[in-house]
Amino acid sequence: MRSFEVGRADLNVTRVTGAELDPPRPGEVLFEVERFGFSANNITYALLGDRLRYWDLFPAEPGWGRIPVWGYLRVLASAVPGVDAGRRAFGLCPMATHVLLRPERAGRATFTEGSAHRAGLSSVYNVYAWAHPGPPDDDDALVVLRPVFWLSFILDDYLAQRAEPDQPVIVTSASSKAALGLAYLLARRGVPVTGLTSAGRVAFVAALSAYDRVLGYDQVGSLPAGLATLVDIAGDAALRDAIGQHLGRPGEVVIAGGTHGEVEPLAAGSFFAPQRIRDRAREWGWPELERRYQAALESFAVGASWLEIHRHHGLDGAARVYREVLTDASPPTAAHVIDLTPSASAKKRRLHLPLA
Ligand SMILES: NC(=O)c1ccc[n+]([C@@H]2O[C@H](COP(=O)([O-])OP(=O)(O)OC[C@H]3O[C@@H](n4cnc5c(N)ncnc54)[C@H](OP(=O)(O)O)[C@@H]3O)[C@@H](O)[C@H]2O)c1
Repeated sequence: MRSFEVGRADLNVTRVTGAELDPPRPGEVLFEVERFGFSANNITYALLGDRLRYWDLFPAEPGWGRIPVWGYLRVLASAVPGVDAGRRAFGLCPMATHVLLRPERAGRATFTEGSAHRAGLSSVYNVYAWAHPGPPDDDDALVVLRPVFWLSFILDDYLAQRAEPDQPVIVTSASSKAALGLAYLLARRGVPVTGLTSAGRVAFVAALSAYDRVLGYDQVGSLPAGLATLVDIAGDAALRDAIGQHLGRPGEVVIAGGTHGEVEPLAAGSFFAPQRIRDRAREWGWPELERRYQAALESFAVGASWLEIHRHHGLDGAARVYREVLTDASPPTAAHVIDLTPSASAKKRRLHLPLA
């Protein structure tokens, strides 16, 4: 098994480790990681690794962290009755060729990962959905959008149930996929929405017509006056102050992301999507929540023709994408998908390994 790891004290330090694969013991299933998406969301997981227990999902040696990513896994060898080799699932994986999980409550649609080191983590992170048997080529965009659009969806749901559901909204990191998803849902409800982004991305974001108005971070003075809700996906305290000073009478401030690297308020639980998703699931039931979510996601994805799939191969490709996203060198149009599937010839060779 090969695994991409980062230094927990310094995210610029990375390594790829190798280890022998042990066959699964009773209760365990060995999965092959097929492909996963990577975006600023995963960097935020790393920044919050200690405080929100993201490092506990896939434990590594002391000082090292395995960043959780959302993707497809395939059962390679199983010691759980009813979980057969070849089955595919979607959920959190490490940036590694393989992962050993302890599937519990395996049903027709999902299973729950029951390893002791994951006890107490949100069910949003511990539940895996069984997936269609073969990897269709057309769902790459969804591999990237599905996890981050949850923030868009559940934020819109939160904003819609407030006393003033139509209050204008200002969104920072307007070029992020989570922000663009939120802008789409707000616009659908007729809510005026202004996007704030880096100066170099204003033209790109404006051309998407997702926002009523798009301004650079250096143009806060041009924000329309009046009461507005600020959804801060950049998680930038100085920017929030500047906006507050300009507006004079700020409305609600929802800190929902940390793309600019300051994650303390997020760690303090400003807007934790998994919590609200769980609350909604209790109220509506998972099937209804999933149905509404899926409908919203699909309609957003259909219109997201600006999204360009960037396919990368192997852990070397994963390392390159990681560095690009960490240093903000990735174009906002990019949906990065990393494919770890071995080539057909390598697959044939694997048949001779004891685990095959
Ligand atoms: N609260 C929750 O529960 C929850 C749930 C899901 C996601 N999120 C958060 O939502 C945020 C957006 O995630 P995403 O996957 O949608 O992002 P994304 O599409 O990868 O966002 C890319 C954009 O983020 C900004 N950015 C990225 N890296 C940066 C860096 N190193 N320095 C400065 N700016 C950088 C830039 O936007 P600008 O130039 O426009 O600033 C960039 O265009 C993440 O912080 C994620 O953790 C939160």
